[in-house]
Amino acid sequence: MSIEDDCGEPEDIGSNPAPRATIGEIIAARFSRRGALLSALASGIAGSAQARAPMRGGPSSLTFPELSHQLAQTDAVAEGHEKHVVIRWGDPVLPGAPAFDPRRVTAASQAMQFGYNNDFIAVLPPARGGRIGTRALLWANHEYTNTNLMFPGMGTNSQARARVSAEQVQAELMAHGGSVVELERVEGRWKPAGDPRLNRRITGATPMTISGPAAGHPRLRTSADPTGTRVLGMFNNCAGGTTPWGTILTCEENFNVYFGGELADATQAESHRRYGITPTPAYGWHRHIARFDRAKEPNEANRFGWVVEIDPYDPASTPIKRTALGRVKHEGATHAIAPDGRVVIYMGDDERFDYVYRFVTARPWNPQDLAANRDLLDEGVLSVAKFDADGTMRWLPLVHGQGPLTAANGFASQAEVLIETRRAADLLEATPMDRPEDVETNPVTGVVYVMLTNNTARTEALVNAANPRAANAHGHVLEIVPPGAANARGHAAETMRWSLFLRAGKPGIDAGAQYHRATSDEGWLSCPDNCTFDSKGRIWIATDGATSAAGVADGLYAADTTGAGRALTRLFYQAPTGAEVCGPLMLPDDSALFLAIQHPGEDAGSTFEEPSTRWPDFEPDMPPRPSVVVITKTGGGAVGS
Ligand code: FEO
Ligand code: CA
Ligand code: CA
Repeated sequence: MSIEDDCGEPEDIGSNPAPRATIGEIIAARFSRRGALLSALASGIAGSAQARAPMRGGPSSLTFPELSHQLAQTDAVAEGHEKHVVIRWGDPVLPGAPAFDPRRVTAASQAMQFGYNNDFIAVLPPARGGRIGTRALLWANHEYTNTNLMFPGMGTNSQARARVSAEQVQAELMAHGGSVVELERVEGRWKPAGDPRLNRRITGATPMTISGPAAGHPRLRTSADPTGTRVLGMFNNCAGGTTPWGTILTCEENFNVYFGGELADATQAESHRRYGITPTPAYGWHRHIARFDRAKEPNEANRFGWVVEIDPYDPASTPIKRTALGRVKHEGATHAIAPDGRVVIYMGDDERFDYVYRFVTARPWNPQDLAANRDLLDEGVLSVAKFDADGTMRWLPLVHGQGPLTAANGFASQAEVLIETRRAADLLEATPMDRPEDVETNPVTGVVYVMLTNNTARTEALVNAANPRAANAHGHVLEIVPPGAANARGHAAETMRWSLFLRAGKPGIDAGAQYHRATSDEGWLSCPDNCTFDSKGRIWIATDGATSAAGVADGLYAADTTGAGRALTRLFYQAPTGAEVCGPLMLPDDSALFLAIQHPGEDAGSTFEEPSTRWPDFEPDMPPRPSVVVITKTGGGAVGS
């Protein structure tokens, strides 16, 4: 999610009251031996102000001609490649969906059309356990809504949310969630398939099940659901992941912005505060729908902030909120496999001074019987990351009864540890990070990458080795190296190594920016958010917030992760004004790169009538439309080569 003018007070505020820095961490950051170590390892990562001769790729293995930074109404992709729109907000998903009419956006139409602000995307085989050929299955999250750009006559976004009607709120509710869309490849181009059987819209009103240790807990019960096991919808689903058995993990992030009013249960005030839930949220939904009003339903908010598992191959299946994976502002949930077959899910809690998490299933997964893995995510150990200044990191288990997680500290059960995951992690003294976004494993090296977007609230007194810059406007990318060989990393190990991959910002301008010394004036980036990897293990980093932080459009940058071109980032794609680049997904054979272009036109002052862009259609009466696009190499071949 963008950090300005969207939900009003999203992840850039921070609600961790006491981020800690030890004196050891401060010293480590000042006299960074990690920096020296990195220089040696990374064949020349340079600090700022190095003489950097412009190079057409230099030692990078990526040979595409690099773009120049821009801020424009339209997008741009590296020469030799072409971009096509796969599907846009309002395009039909379900059979019989009405044609998109931007002046008649209703709950009924949105429930059948592609939703708003696509973020995470997955592209799966067309059948469970199969392969991607000329057909595939697309999943896209619909994270949040820009009220001002969805409806005419509403003014700016803050004005629109103040005057939104009950009918419009219902339309926004249905524009949230996610979509399953069957795709087909025709003459090299991916597009929605005719006669789909699996297409589905998940919305803010779709019935879902709550499972795992917190299911049924009294704090999850409401007047509409006295069992505490059934909930309507999911909100603010940002990034996500997939499982080895072919399901989607979609993650509720800034759920706090939908709940408002005076909290009827004072015993939960501190918990609500830790998650940033206030009487006057960015959205006005609580004025129109009782379950979002904390005076009427103090527990409804506890039913959000979870990872949701969805089976895209069964349109009749019920989505399941997996409480064992904890309740935070979940960015994503990506998997790796431990050598013994247990499944490891890496997750970030996207807020200033919040934490990186990991879940390890109790049992190995079963590749022979995919259905046998159905409830694997209900049992296991959730842990939070602590990064030490000596380059080691530890996973601290969030298990009731262990350490401070006892009744004496207000945790009567594992359910309560999970409902208040953040407070439990605070007590374990996890390392407060600079907004942890995607946490994703390089399939070639087994190294885990953590995108840390930014944190301008970090003071000199609060720097630590893993978050080494005060007033960190541009973020950084951190590597976690589990023990073991590249093809058999110990992802379930208690202790791992870590180092910094790059520090974002413009070299020579922004203090502490660090990349490969051959990084060009166009190759630096700001605000890393999500990533994907190609078949050679190269990282593709999408950004969110570069315009406000650095005055350039958000984009997609590619770099080697090993060898002579390590951390030499190169600019491949730039988004239209106001938009961030989300959900990067490279197909396994590198033949196509899918991107979700979210909130085009979300610039300050943008209105339905006068948006800052009309991307992607540029029709006079058409508002900007969040879209999934696909990039291929002209004439075929591997993207980026
Ligand atoms: Fe929705 Fe953390 O970005
Ligand atoms: Ca984002
Ligand atoms: Ca994100």
